[in-house]
Amino acid sequence: MTTLANYLDNHATTPALNDVITTVTNVGKTISQLLRKGALADILGEAGNQNIQGEDQKKLDVLANDLLLDALAKNTHCAGVASEELDNATPANADGSLLVLFDPLDGSSNIDINMAVGTIFSVLPYQRQGQTSENSDFLQAGNQQLAAGYLLYSTSTVLALTITDHVVMFSLDPDTGDYVLIEDNVQIDADTSEYAINASNYRYWRAPMQQYIDELIAGEAGVRGRDFNTRWVAAMVGDVHRILCRGGLFTYPFDTKYAHKAGKLRLMYEANPMSLLIERAGGGATDAVNRILDIDPTDIHQRVPVVLGSKNEVDYVKDLHVNYTDK
Ligand code: F6P
Ligand code: MN
Repeated sequence: MTTLANYLDNHATTPALNDVITTVTNVGKTISQLLRKGALADILGEAGNQNIQGEDQKKLDVLANDLLLDALAKNTHCAGVASEELDNATPANADGSLLVLFDPLDGSSNIDINMAVGTIFSVLPYQRQGQTSENSDFLQAGNQQLAAGYLLYSTSTVLALTITDHVVMFSLDPDTGDYVLIEDNVQIDADTSEYAINASNYRYWRAPMQQYIDELIAGEAGVRGRDFNTRWVAAMVGDVHRILCRGGLFTYPFDTKYAHKAGKLRLMYEANPMSLLIERAGGGATDAVNRILDIDPTDIHQRVPVVLGSKNEVDYVKDLHVNYTDK
């Protein structure tokens, strides 16, 4: 049996990386316990509301953010933290060598209905050790990530992680509190017949994405010549986990639903870490045309269209976009 602690001792490139991942995954155990208590933990509902005892409630995504922030601020290797919940990055320990970015509770609209949610994280090198970190220090392309992963809180709690060229998975043993290795080299099949998209946004998509989904829906009767199946968890972390387990294509494409937003998902703490996991498992990850990991970020909260999963399907979407001409 290999625990996360054993694995990090053998594979983490530096003690700093080992320590920061240990901090994030330890907080994940606490978040997992809070979620398991559900409504009994007095934590559901909107932040700012009062609970039955008249005390202020903290929404669980705010609580998850605070727990990660507090733990990482105490970690001497962490020079700064950026989170979906924070307008600006928070400096931590100037002498640290690592920056940590996270989405503390992805898919948080799933919390109140007892469905899957998760924590997504990304670790970047810190280039200005000794000085206080700023937003601009985080603006590095995803190909610079030293580690990426997620914790999925579902029927069981699973950690997917990449710190080498492999993607590995651990399952949290509720009896011992250890993360135990369950997969040492996750690989995604290049072909798939399963896809994930919020199809209610169809009218806001670009024409090549509409064409792609039209083709999948036409199934056996259309140009693809076979039937496709839809799955949508409504938490990226759940959809990506399914793809790492059995392949598939996930997309939150460019849409015109909200003016001035390129897509819904965030580059730095959603698309980049998930893209690193997917690519290292043999899949593809683009914004429909360009590799996500090569995008030079301009803002820690910038949004990006995402198409990721089984390689041949991601390439097929790219070809449709590249070759599309207005008829
Ligand atoms: O973080 C954004 C997010 O919650 C993703 O986890 C998920 O894939 C998506 O939004 C769900 O979007 P929608 O509400 O359109 O189904
Ligand atoms: Mn999210």
